[in-house]
Amino acid sequence: VIQYAGAEGVIDLGWGHPDPQLLPVEAWAAATAAALRRAGWTALTYGYAPGPAPLREWLAGHLATVDGRPPDPDELLVTAGASQGLELVCTALTRPGDVALVDQPAYHLALKLLADHRLELRAAPAGPDGIDPDRTAGLVRELRAAGRRVPLLYLVPTFNNPSGASLPAAHRRALVGALAGLITIVEDDTYRELAYPGPAPPSLWSLAASGVIRLGSFSKTVAPGLRLGYLSAGAGFVRRLAARGQLDSGGCLNHTAAMVLAEFGTSGRYAAHVATLRTAYRQRRDVLVAALREQAPALELAVPDGGWFLWLRAPGAAGLARLATRHGTALLTGERFFVDGAAGGGRDRLRAAFSRLGPDELVEAARRLGRAYRELPLAGRAGREPDPDPDHGRSG
Ligand SMILES: Cc1ncc(COP(=O)(O)O)c(C=O)c1O
Repeated sequence: VIQYAGAEGVIDLGWGHPDPQLLPVEAWAAATAAALRRAGWTALTYGYAPGPAPLREWLAGHLATVDGRPPDPDELLVTAGASQGLELVCTALTRPGDVALVDQPAYHLALKLLADHRLELRAAPAGPDGIDPDRTAGLVRELRAAGRRVPLLYLVPTFNNPSGASLPAAHRRALVGALAGLITIVEDDTYRELAYPGPAPPSLWSLAASGVIRLGSFSKTVAPGLRLGYLSAGAGFVRRLAARGQLDSGGCLNHTAAMVLAEFGTSGRYAAHVATLRTAYRQRRDVLVAALREQAPALELAVPDGGWFLWLRAPGAAGLARLATRHGTALLTGERFFVDGAAGGGRDRLRAAFSRLGPDELVEAARRLGRAYRELPLAGRAGREPDPDPDHGRSG
């Protein structure tokens, strides 16, 4: 029935999934009943292609409270999740053989999705604060001068998966200033609302007059099983996407869930639920950070201001992950978040998701990781061990 498939007895920090206890089963059931009562058959027929007005209007108003500039409703398109939004953008903007620039580290499954479109992935030049706007602009010009198409740059600038890091606000302005007129910036903004304590920095989308497509999702704030998200872009681009055959044929990409989400939002359930999530995930972050500092103090980590992940630095990370599995806890190794893992990117990194597990399990996971670390032979710490399980943690 579900995607998660963990091994018996292993406390798994590898999967970026929500805690089952934090999924709003009752509140969603109530919102569904209310939406169907209110909207009747209109909630169940083909929906208006860009998304039904009740959701787009509520969402535009809601984004005004969590971002720099809210979109107009006609700058919003309802999608079947951020992954599907990215798929749609790739279908509309790219051709096989194009170059896609990506931030490093980047959400590994977005890299997979871009590769599915047969795009050649290239790392955007970066400095300590993230993507270097001028060098990236230079690379785009150089590639184009050599006859290559370079339609888009993909990045997760806010509470990044895997690093948890956010681009500083000043850096965002420089990035938008140098690149928004040159290349389509695809901003994956999935974690914006999981800010501890917040607010999140303004989105690139909110800072640019045009040239940015922002992908949003209700997977982290409500439930991934809904397959519901949105993108904000120029009204012309939204119309262009809504006119594509898929939406002309099927209407809104997830109409009934969109109508229920509108009810969930306007009734106040959304705000109450996200407030609960912020408290709960913040607590889990703090529990895991404290337990790791106690149990494995040699592991370096930066405390993220939002999102679901800790990005640990550990020499010999692959060997440590393998040992950790033997001790009954699992993490993802860092290479998969880099375009060219073979060049060494991420080899000293592990991603730990604190989203799926309760505080007690997080403490026990840290204990097991600490035991593994103490057992890691010096040779392993120098880092030569293979990835323990390259397919592990397929999702999130
Ligand atoms: C950065 C990022 N983008 C997109 C997704 C997937 O979002 P959705 O469930 O809306 O497709 C995830 C899920 O882990 C993610 O971390």
